[in-house]
Amino acid sequence: LDNGLALTPPMGWLSWERFECNTNCREDPDNCIGERLVMQMADRMAQDGFLAAGYEYIALDDCWPARDRDPKGNILPDPERFPHGMKALADYVHSLGLKLGLYADVGRHTCAGFPGSLDHYEQDSNTFAEWGVDMVKFDGCNTDEQHFEIGYPLFGFYLNKTRRPIMYSCEWALYARAKGFKANYTAVAETCNTFRVYGDIWDNYESIQSISKWYADDEGNFSAVAAPGSFNDADMLVIGNYGLSKDGAKSQMGFWAMVASPLLMSVDLRTIDTFSKELLQNKRVLKINQDPLGVQGKAIIQFLDGNLQVWTRPLSARGSFAIAIVYLLQVGQPLRTSFSLKQLGLTHQRGYNFTEVFDGGHFGSFKPNENITSFVNPSGIVLLTAEPLN
Ligand code: GLA
Repeated sequence: LDNGLALTPPMGWLSWERFECNTNCREDPDNCIGERLVMQMADRMAQDGFLAAGYEYIALDDCWPARDRDPKGNILPDPERFPHGMKALADYVHSLGLKLGLYADVGRHTCAGFPGSLDHYEQDSNTFAEWGVDMVKFDGCNTDEQHFEIGYPLFGFYLNKTRRPIMYSCEWALYARAKGFKANYTAVAETCNTFRVYGDIWDNYESIQSISKWYADDEGNFSAVAAPGSFNDADMLVIGNYGLSKDGAKSQMGFWAMVASPLLMSVDLRTIDTFSKELLQNKRVLKINQDPLGVQGKAIIQFLDGNLQVWTRPLSARGSFAIAIVYLLQVGQPLRTSFSLKQLGLTHQRGYNFTEVFDGGHFGSFKPNENITSFVNPSGIVLLTAEPLN
């Protein structure tokens, strides 16, 4: 979507995977979807290096609204969980240098049964703009499939009409497919800044595996529409929660960088461990994700039924690439892999200087007919950059 936003993949925090639809503020005040949670996360983002690393959106997912609209049809936040209202929350978030995201739905109800935006597209767009919202995630529950092609562009039209810059995050492609239609990725990319292409992520490595395989298959050539202003969304980062090993966490971070996905953390930043925090803030990985060329990496080699994947992503520095070797099996020992540079499409005659991305170490210099050899851990990733030598 050509609205000047999301020129690199948006980075931030999104409530859903970690906090889901917890509305029980009475018994669980620290973790319920409400202004207190947002303010506490916003504080951590601003004070603990996340904002400085580029994570700027703090976004509520489903379950923030009141059960009913007001008599004029205006959407309202739940009054008990957001006692000061959304405008005050946006002001607070902005005072820290962050941006506020909200969630809405193209249909009559959200996936969790809260008011959807159907028949209120213009009204809700105006409300969001008045509150000072900077991003909207637009879900696709509770409507029929014919409605997507009208609903997503129409809501986007009204967002645009408010003249407030609002990053537009859609689930159109995903729901079209879920209902048995081919996703029209070109139309989706013209309409939205980011768009989910696969089912919901959960806090386990199986989620990462199935997303990696879906991206490797690249059905409908969705990789081609990724560009500044419009990025395929692999869903939230679950790093720092309960389900991923250290290798699994590095795999998610590295893979999301290779495919230029938005980086929306869904984790409790008040209690996150140091390893996860440093991984989420790793400058070299983030630099790949945020590369201004905005090209999505592709799986150029697959072995072992797609469980060993080699990915390359062209970077903006002339002739440079990011390379990922991804091993999706979760058993046994590290796998020895060896590929010639030519196999990876690296043909510069003088060769390349390779850097190991996670720790920044020098990996070696190689010519196109030479091999790079590495051991990749089960559920692990080897992430490299290659810069051409003069
Ligand atoms: C859908 C979306 C998720 C999340 C939930 C909320 O499942 O795909 O990302 O927004 O709805 O109910």
